[in-house]
Amino acid sequence: MDIKRANGRYYTRGNPFLLYPFKMWAEKANIEQNTILEPFAGAKDIPNLVELAKLKCEDWEFYDIEPGAKGVFKRDTLADFPKGFNVCITNPPWLARNSATRRGLPFPNATNYDDLYKYALEKCLSYCKWVTAIIPEAFIRSGLFLERLYDFVSLVPDSDNGNTQSSTGMNPTYMFDDTEHPVGLALFGPQKCLDVNLWRNNQFLGKYSELQKHLPSSSQNRKIRFNDPEGNLGLFAIDNTVSASIRFCHPSELGDYRIRNQCRSITKIRTPQNVEIDILNERLAIIREKTFDVFLTAFKGLRKDGCYRRRLDWAMARAIIDEDHSQIGMNLE
Ligand SMILES: C[S@@+](CC[C@H](N)C(=O)[O-])C[C@H]1O[C@@H](n2cnc3c(N)ncnc32)[C@H](O)[C@@H]1O
Repeated sequence: MDIKRANGRYYTRGNPFLLYPFKMWAEKANIEQNTILEPFAGAKDIPNLVELAKLKCEDWEFYDIEPGAKGVFKRDTLADFPKGFNVCITNPPWLARNSATRRGLPFPNATNYDDLYKYALEKCLSYCKWVTAIIPEAFIRSGLFLERLYDFVSLVPDSDNGNTQSSTGMNPTYMFDDTEHPVGLALFGPQKCLDVNLWRNNQFLGKYSELQKHLPSSSQNRKIRFNDPEGNLGLFAIDNTVSASIRFCHPSELGDYRIRNQCRSITKIRTPQNVEIDILNERLAIIREKTFDVFLTAFKGLRKDGCYRRRLDWAMARAIIDEDHSQIGMNLE
């Protein structure tokens, strides 16, 4: 597994190229008359999937540091990116810097990004006008490369929106063979764009800036303290496997639960003012409904209702608690 991880090597299996936003992008990028670059080609799965979506490209050129099929040129494309291509369709290597450090895996010195896929994406965008990349769903919260991001699709397996082959509900077709990591499809173009269209598979969710308006203003109120064993407010910060269950609660509900400093799932919070638990939960419910959870971190594994499990981070929880007092817009970084 670590050899796979070292090169961020999870081959694509689900088919995001069947989706409407990709088909629109492919038309604008004129893939029929362009040779498509796959700079991290692995076993050349992406062209098969594009063909299965009944889309034709003029031709393909493939590179990989460790070719997984005939016809893939061996090259470290992060160090020496192929030039002269207009259009790139790829699933770049994913590897978090902290995971590399923890496991003693190499990570390029040439970048400060916290994940290899961001560096790979920067390379693709530097040399290609049109780029489609299969990347972690969390990318949309990073604020990176938004000026060229036309559409971003949260890829939810096993939905009835035509994303993947399976519709059993029990055994969804994930995008990769051996990871259930939440995945997105980022569609970039050559020009500066004013806003990003956000999708869940084929369902249009809204414009990025419109959804952002439903977020609470950020709060710097450090008197709201998390993981305080004497807290006067409880929080279940992660959805269970059944439904959207994140909620604030009375601390007594947490009983003897031992609060740990690093804990990000269940906490007690100390707030300076009295809080109305029902109001907080109502605010949270409205945010979730209006933003389709786009700005909440997704977890691996789907809930029974077919959506990703989500986590409410402390910054947003603080903003919800402090909503009556805070002024400045949420900073998503
Ligand atoms: C996530 S896999 C995707 C493979 C293929 N694009 C697919 O979708 O099935 C990433 C690929 O990037 C390759 N890779 C990692 N670092 C690389 C580098 N520096 N230069 C070229 N390829 C690299 C890995 O060997 C792996 O095949």
